[in-house]
Amino acid sequence: MAMVVASTPGGNSSRSSRDVHIDWINWVVRRRILGPVDQGHLVPKKEVPQVEKNGSKYGRTEYGKQNAVPPHQYEEMKTDVEVGYRHFDTASYYGSEGTLGGALKEAFQSGHIKREEVFVTTKLWDDKHDDPLATITKSLKNLQLEYVDLYLLHWHVRLRKGHTLPPKEEDFLPLDIKSTWQGMEKCFELGLTKAIGVSNFSCKKIEDLLKHAKIPTAANQVEMHPMWQQKKLREYCSKMKIQVCAFSPLGAPNTPWGSNMVMDSPVIKEIAQKHGKSIAQVVLRWEIEQGVCVIPKSYNKGRIIENFQVFD
Ligand SMILES: NC(=O)c1ccc[n+]([C@@H]2O[C@H](COP(=O)([O-])OP(=O)(O)OC[C@H]3O[C@@H](n4cnc5c(N)ncnc54)[C@H](OP(=O)(O)O)[C@@H]3O)[C@@H](O)[C@H]2O)c1
Repeated sequence: MAMVVASTPGGNSSRSSRDVHIDWINWVVRRRILGPVDQGHLVPKKEVPQVEKNGSKYGRTEYGKQNAVPPHQYEEMKTDVEVGYRHFDTASYYGSEGTLGGALKEAFQSGHIKREEVFVTTKLWDDKHDDPLATITKSLKNLQLEYVDLYLLHWHVRLRKGHTLPPKEEDFLPLDIKSTWQGMEKCFELGLTKAIGVSNFSCKKIEDLLKHAKIPTAANQVEMHPMWQQKKLREYCSKMKIQVCAFSPLGAPNTPWGSNMVMDSPVIKEIAQKHGKSIAQVVLRWEIEQGVCVIPKSYNKGRIIENFQVFD
């Protein structure tokens, strides 16, 4: 893969960091959006799908990890890598950075994959807006990585340190998006992340951010699935060249924060039966065809494999 080294941080120093960042986004888009349709499922298992329709690492069926991960799930995380997942979504808040870092280290040491072949996203939590640099440094230590591929501002909310969840009224602090984003930009400029982005941002919130941004947001990770299609936001992001990533792409069934509306949909069930696929496969394939990155989560080996097999 001819990675555009000159356009990544540390390349031509005469260029502004904004230019470098835009080049990086373009590289992400070229590599992950515009490739041949079927490469992902045609490559042998141990090779990495470099490019395919809607992206390889940042647009293929991808895998998120959330919450503290009990030891037995370490094995399942290794399964992800073996199945072919190459994008790992985590966050300092989830408590899963350490487990992901351990599994990736093992995969790198075994020669199964190289660092540059995986796409790692992590996020800045709401009580750390004052110091993105110290926070990403801690995340990198947990992940045992020198850089992440994407660092996201988790929410458009700033909370007091020591807050509880759900936050109480007194936990909320005034948001200073300009200062927080400057901290995110610093992380990028120091090469600790290849791109910076946001999560849970509306069009209006992105517009506000862009007024202050020296480096534009590369991505917006939001809840998206057939029951919440985010059409207006996707149109806006497409116009602004911001990659949308769909979290809770299956509607987060059987979780306190999600619902079973997607997985219980009679219409999607009928489509799935017609095509001999599962409901989850139909939903993920539809999302990928909308040009978004998807990060389904499963701790079940059969479903991890099922969620990857959406192109055959
Ligand atoms: N930025 C944010 O604010 C934010 C918020 C929420 C989530 N996220 C990210 O998005 C990722 C996924 O979101 P999510 O966990 O909320 O929702 P999800 O991926 O839509 O749903 C996960 C649930 O679906 C089940 N599942 C997975 N594959 C299935 C299949 N093929 N058939 C039936 N059930 C299936 C899983 O159970 P099993 O484990 O039993 O398979 C799990 O209970 C998270 O891990 C996180 O990385 C980000």
